[in-house]
Amino acid sequence: MDDLRLKYLGLIAGSADESALEEVRLAAIGKKGEVALAMRELGRMTPEERQVAGPALNALKDEITSAIAARKQALGDAALEERLRGEWLDVTLPGRRRGDGAGTIHPVSQVWEEVTAIFADMGFAVAEGPQVETDFYNFDALNIPSHHPARGEMDTFYMHRAAGDDRPPHVLRTHTSPVQIRTMQDQGAPLRIIAPGRVYRADYDQTHTPMFHQVEGLAIDKSISMANLKWVLEEFFTAYFGTTVKTRFRASHFPFTEPSAEVDIQCSWVDGQVRVGEGDGWLEVLGSGMVHPHVLRAGGVDPDQWQGFAFGMGIDRIAMLKYGIPDLRAFFDSDLRWLRHYGFSPLAVPTLHGGV
Ligand code: PHE
Repeated sequence: MDDLRLKYLGLIAGSADESALEEVRLAAIGKKGEVALAMRELGRMTPEERQVAGPALNALKDEITSAIAARKQALGDAALEERLRGEWLDVTLPGRRRGDGAGTIHPVSQVWEEVTAIFADMGFAVAEGPQVETDFYNFDALNIPSHHPARGEMDTFYMHRAAGDDRPPHVLRTHTSPVQIRTMQDQGAPLRIIAPGRVYRADYDQTHTPMFHQVEGLAIDKSISMANLKWVLEEFFTAYFGTTVKTRFRASHFPFTEPSAEVDIQCSWVDGQVRVGEGDGWLEVLGSGMVHPHVLRAGGVDPDQWQGFAFGMGIDRIAMLKYGIPDLRAFFDSDLRWLRHYGFSPLAVPTLHGGV
């Protein structure tokens, strides 16, 4: 019995894992194990012998059973210990960025948001209008006569009417100016709004795409003047480009403003790259003027009491200028490599003014 005891306690202590331990258990106290066989011998013993051997064998069985349990516990603890060491987590590591499949914020959306935020700081609210417009809002109400070239099939996308429907066709708005009329009709005067959005013209080259983005500005009050317009625009460009930007107003013509001006911003060209806010070059960036009395009237605003300025600026164009993007067409090619080069990580975008 002492031999059995020494043998199995030694084997148990030397078992390296649970399956080895199970083998030892079967060999010792399994049904056909050595202890069981020894117990079978009891039948051939005298009662006196049995009285000594019986309890001793039972005690041996118990001792082996608990030695196995203890060893099993020890092996389990060691395995857990090992795993914990392997899976150690450094909570001071920086978090993981989203994977390669993630996109970024498109430069147009970014600039749209920046423009909105800057004008919001000057008290301009955001107004909206439909992209599919009526002839009236896109042209007539803006004092654009029926023979005006802007109405030509060449420039404007017209929707189809059903056969037999003689009403003028809807158009994809060619500018954001119809929002001027809609907002005056909805809100009356005084008002101060910008209207960013998509516009459409049949045009395609390095600086023109059939769909592009404009932001309209409109301020109506009792004594709004061109001086207010100039201040607002200079304030805007200086905030947007992060440097003082001079503007130049050139007399121009739009049917919906009188007088009208095209506005240039100060810039220089260095190695073919534009630098805004320095040098003595000029770059045209928007159309503007004092809202024509016909337009005020179409919006339900009395031109004898109210006056105001309006402007329309290309969002894509000022995005190209600020971020040095040479080809407008790439904005709408949906090439992820381009987007990752010029786009903005969502993490880098201030959320103060909300997403667009
Ligand atoms: N709607 C004009 C355009 O698209 C821009 C503009 C807006 C001009 C408002 C004057 C006033 O070219």
